[in-house]
Amino acid sequence: MLRTHTCGELRLDNAGQTVTLTGWVQRTRDKGGIFWVDLRDRYGITQLTLEEGVEADELRELARTLGREFVVQVTGKVAERYSKNEKIPTGAIEIRVQQLEVLNPAKLPPFLIEDETDGGDDLRMKYRYLDLRRTPVRQNLMLRHRMAQAVRRYLDGEEFIEVETPVLIKSTPEGARDFVVPSRMNPGEFYALPQSPQTFKQLLMVSGFDRYFQIVKCFRDEDLRADRQPEFTQIDCEMAFVEQEDILNTFEGLVKYLFKEVKGLEISELPRMTYADAMRFYGNDKPDTRFEMKFVELSDIVKGQNFPVFDKAELVVGINAINCAVYTRKQLDELTEFVKRPQLGATGLVYARVEAGGTVKSSVDKFYSQEELQKWKEAFNANEGDLLLILAGDANKTRKALSELRLEMGQRLGLRDKDTFSPLWVVDFPLLEYIEEEGRYFAMHHPFTSPKPEDLALLDNPNTIGEVRANAYDMVINGVEVGGGSIRIHDRGVQARMFSLLGFSDEEAKAQFGFLLDAFEYGAPPHGGIAFGFDRLCSLFGGADSIRDFIAFPKNNSGRDVMIDSPAQISEAQLKELSIKTAVVPTK
Ligand code: AMO
Repeated sequence: MLRTHTCGELRLDNAGQTVTLTGWVQRTRDKGGIFWVDLRDRYGITQLTLEEGVEADELRELARTLGREFVVQVTGKVAERYSKNEKIPTGAIEIRVQQLEVLNPAKLPPFLIEDETDGGDDLRMKYRYLDLRRTPVRQNLMLRHRMAQAVRRYLDGEEFIEVETPVLIKSTPEGARDFVVPSRMNPGEFYALPQSPQTFKQLLMVSGFDRYFQIVKCFRDEDLRADRQPEFTQIDCEMAFVEQEDILNTFEGLVKYLFKEVKGLEISELPRMTYADAMRFYGNDKPDTRFEMKFVELSDIVKGQNFPVFDKAELVVGINAINCAVYTRKQLDELTEFVKRPQLGATGLVYARVEAGGTVKSSVDKFYSQEELQKWKEAFNANEGDLLLILAGDANKTRKALSELRLEMGQRLGLRDKDTFSPLWVVDFPLLEYIEEEGRYFAMHHPFTSPKPEDLALLDNPNTIGEVRANAYDMVINGVEVGGGSIRIHDRGVQARMFSLLGFSDEEAKAQFGFLLDAFEYGAPPHGGIAFGFDRLCSLFGGADSIRDFIAFPKNNSGRDVMIDSPAQISEAQLKELSIKTAVVPTK
């Protein structure tokens, strides 16, 4: 080893020892008689000291030539510091330098490599390897490491076997676009990268593995958001001979274990909410339950008073922002603008204040008497000082807009604290979802998800197909869908029926999933599973909004890795070898 200790290790107890450290020069300071160097490595920062008349002049001169990020090796004696720095663990000592060697000089970095940096996002992405030297970024990845180790410990303890599944596969049915890879040896044919190992984990159950897991890369060609990357990591799991209850309990156990091991938090039993209730009370299948502010439906009490907006609305629904009657006109205008943004598309916002003495003053007073407005107050269980915010229109759109408004109010009122965690299960998802533009049903989770046996009869009637519930569940924490899974169909007949409902002909189903249908004829056990979005779990635990901060080398919002400049064109020769005839090169 080129060092005896790390830069985060030495304390007052080490005073008097001669040590050798290595690391990067974080910064130097020259106070006339004394020259200091802050030496940094993964473990911390240690101060090096060179004093006139104490340390040799040549050493002091060499130290003066050190630039930021030079890689150095230093030998010296640990000494108690005259003025201590309480903020860092090594702050009580310094190294009085006896030998100094520059192992490698460095160019001036394009941004400050300190906790607070002056580098913008793009620059830090381009030089991600330098950004990773910064303590907050490195700590995120260390958290990720600890999480991964804890996941393995827990699942190993529960008899799960870690199995790697292939990356060059055939299209998987998770509903996003596939990334594809041309096959040189099979001209004109393509592999697809897995959107998840779904079919393989089910095959492993047929193989009798009983309990499988994998911390695995998945690939989805979809539009990116703060919580989406084109390649991301799942904790992918499957169990045989289980019912939904067993899976919920096992993975509730995993999440509690992670909170305990990684954050030192005890989490009580996870509440369960049906999909129907999540939509009704939060307008969202991933409700942020750190705060209440539940939806209150008002259609019955507000219609028929000649207010056209409410009269012609499919749904009138609102929330009670407690203690917000003091909101100014300007603040209310801001909220109105918020819901009118094209993404939400509300036509306006109706509000009502509960004033001193309980009188309600609304923005639509000319249509509603005080007596009527008192009914609103009652419906919301509102008190003096509360503010009612109400939207109306098409049911789905209105719920979605109010859900966003609820989150915005939660944010404004400081109810979405990053250190508070509110996990829950959302259960009983619909099996199918009708997509108007496509004119057909799609699997809400994926085509292998089992309908609830008690709802099977509803599949026979075209009018009730949409009501069939699935044995499918999501785990949601603080409004983030961190995981989802289902009990699978293990019966070939039910699976074939499902494919036909989804518009696959027998031939198409056979061509795409014949291997799975065949496997189901050789003794498939009842089985089910779940996959967690590992990047999302890490960012939640780390208190960040973006999963990018928890991925060592992430892509930007256009799906590019700006550091290695990828995706990139390939040569004509490569294209030819892959039997790809035309490279369509867009003009930039
Ligand atoms: P699902 O599609 O719900 O289920 O994915 C599981 C979890 O993966 C995370 N996730 C993502 N994270 C980051 N970037 C993305 N682009 C992205 N897409 C999904 C989410 C999500 O909850 N095979 C099934 C699981 C099963 O049925 O067992 C599946 O993949 O946190």
